[in-house]
Amino acid sequence: MSINPEKMLQKCKDGQWNINDFDWSKKPEVILDRETEMRICQLYLDMSYIERIAGNLFLALSDLMDDPILKEIYYYCYLDEVRHSEAVAKLADYFDVHQYKIYTPSFAMLRFIPRFSKAIRSVNPAVANLFVLTGELILDIALLKKINEFVEDPMSQAVVKKINADESRHLAMDIFMTEHCSANNMNKEFTFIDRIKSAFTIGELVVFGPQFTIDLFFRPMQTLDPTQKELESVMRRLRRLYSKEEVSGNPTAKPFNQMLAFFDSDIGDKVGWGLRRVVQGATGLNFDWTLAGSARQSGAQNQIVSSSNSTFGSDLALGSKASSGFNATDLAEEILSGV
Ligand SMILES: [Fe+2]
Ligand SMILES: [Fe+2]
Repeated sequence: MSINPEKMLQKCKDGQWNINDFDWSKKPEVILDRETEMRICQLYLDMSYIERIAGNLFLALSDLMDDPILKEIYYYCYLDEVRHSEAVAKLADYFDVHQYKIYTPSFAMLRFIPRFSKAIRSVNPAVANLFVLTGELILDIALLKKINEFVEDPMSQAVVKKINADESRHLAMDIFMTEHCSANNMNKEFTFIDRIKSAFTIGELVVFGPQFTIDLFFRPMQTLDPTQKELESVMRRLRRLYSKEEVSGNPTAKPFNQMLAFFDSDIGDKVGWGLRRVVQGATGLNFDWTLAGSARQSGAQNQIVSSSNSTFGSDLALGSKASSGFNATDLAEEILSGV
């Protein structure tokens, strides 16, 4: 699978839209109780910061590119994310009918953001792209999709549909770059001092990242996606992408696949089970979805998916058209096969 960068750049330009295309003077059609209104406002406010983080990642990727077309594509992806941030912040205001409280970002996110934006500028493009890919799949797409489904409001649906069209381009670029970093050595030259600094910033992420992901993603998803189907889809998708021959040379593929292979082994299975129970005891969160798509759990299903030509496997595509209308991965597949 590949893309034509020049056509993709044109797609990025053509796909620009404005948040003022929507009539923000409208009031929500759904009637929300106090608790739900507060919850939706907080989720959309948090989402507006998450979109900024995604924008920051794309800006870093744009800076890391030598190719002027790829640089410009990523700059447009950055502009998309800034627009998403503004749009979902507007949605937070739109649902804030009763002004029950002033909504503020979580402390975990405030601690995480500056450290993350520093870290992504001290890593190689392949690693930055892995951050983008996983961030987009779990936060930019899966979380936003579940919030939108939860609230079921026409304005929210219309805005998320526009965001979704942008996300399909982002996802296509994430997959393209995962393969591109496999075929091309894009590693930066790091001095010894750079490596020390990089190790320190990554260390900070290890300290401050878990609370951010728990508060901003895993805990909301536990209630928005109680069956874990969405998270299982994300896990299958990542496994499938990283099992492809085209990404085997990507510097992130080997450690990722080695980690998966360990947890698929007899001893790794027991270690994984123990870790999941410890984490569940400490946080109340169930991480059994990480087993989705593993050879141990679903070998037969995996074989079916592997035999398909698509990157993600159409039967496992996130948000199928029929079920939700939120079809960033379907659209990404179309871009990858048609651009
Ligand atoms: Fe976004
Ligand atoms: Fe995105």
